Amino acid sequence: MLKQVEVSDEQIEKAVALLRAGKLVAFPTETVYGLGADASNVSAIRKVFAAKQRPADHPLIVHLADTAGLKHWASVVPREAWLLAEAFWPGPLTMVLPRAAHVPGELTGGQSTIALRVPSHPVAHRLLLAFDGAIAAPSANRFGHLSPTSAAHVREELGDAVDYILDGGDCPVGIESTIVAFRNSSAVVLRPGKITAEQIAEKLQSEVVPPVASSPRVSGTLPSHYAPRTPLRVVDPEALESTLRREASKRPIAVLARRGRPSNTRAALWQVAPQTPEEYAHHLYSLLRRMDSAGCELIIAEAVPDLPEWVAIRDRLTRASAEDVEAPRIATGT
Ligand code: TXA
Ligand code: MG
Repeated sequence: MLKQVEVSDEQIEKAVALLRAGKLVAFPTETVYGLGADASNVSAIRKVFAAKQRPADHPLIVHLADTAGLKHWASVVPREAWLLAEAFWPGPLTMVLPRAAHVPGELTGGQSTIALRVPSHPVAHRLLLAFDGAIAAPSANRFGHLSPTSAAHVREELGDAVDYILDGGDCPVGIESTIVAFRNSSAVVLRPGKITAEQIAEKLQSEVVPPVASSPRVSGTLPSHYAPRTPLRVVDPEALESTLRREASKRPIAVLARRGRPSNTRAALWQVAPQTPEEYAHHLYSLLRRMDSAGCELIIAEAVPDLPEWVAIRDRLTRASAEDVEAPRIATGT
């Protein structure tokens, strides 16, 4: 069920005034909520990193109202990028391109490329048009936490570190945008999302190549990104019942499964997952947040199908289950 919330012109004007004054404004996009700052204001950009407690070498995505801004921010826009822009913008696709000379290094984590996206959410679009400039916005959560898909999640994550939240209701897609870079004339998917590698390959009439180790660092690709506080384990459907028998006798567990609760299970919480990839993605982060606060010691998620339309969800579940190799697991929310 999609919670729709009207945003008035006065709210948009207030958000624009705050952005112009170098403040931080959270706003809904079709994927997740973004923590927005004026992309041309270096001190505002620094505040985004401070609010998120994000390391300075993790670059931000710059949001544009339409493709007109592309050439201002990117020094080179290859033919493939124009094709993808035409096919998928406005929408949940981010493209990584060589950055223009004027782009502050703070925005790009010191890299020579910049990530650009034209969101389709009507509130994001109205905000970008009224602001008449570019808005730098990472997901509006603390670094390493689950992305927020409602205004309440943003408040939980950032508290007073955000100056204003435009509440546009629940984000329809529910997981972060697909991130694409280009190598020679091939597309590379750096982060899977609603727009699949197959859709991109079809538009470009060429194969999408896998990222190489030297690809730019994407924080959304760190093993433990998007993690709940409670340890999470992904279990194949065939192994679900035996795992439950073993684990549920030891400690309270929460289960996210694509089937109903069997009568004999001792799981403290059984959450039936949505059946389609669209619905699953839409609810994933709010379900994980709820399961994370249920007081269980382990979350068991039944693996989703190994099919193209489930790739992004498999990716987020895997990351939520990874033990952090770089830093201790960070708590979700407050
Ligand atoms: O759906 C989304 O993309 C949301 C909404 C708010 O637009 N934004 C989002 O931003 O997920 P963030 O910062 O949480 O994730 C952006 C990812 C990061 O993993 C970052 O490392 C990567 O984009 N990124 C940004 N600039 C990059 C660049 N120049 N090269 C490679 N990756 C880049
Ligand atoms: Mg993020």
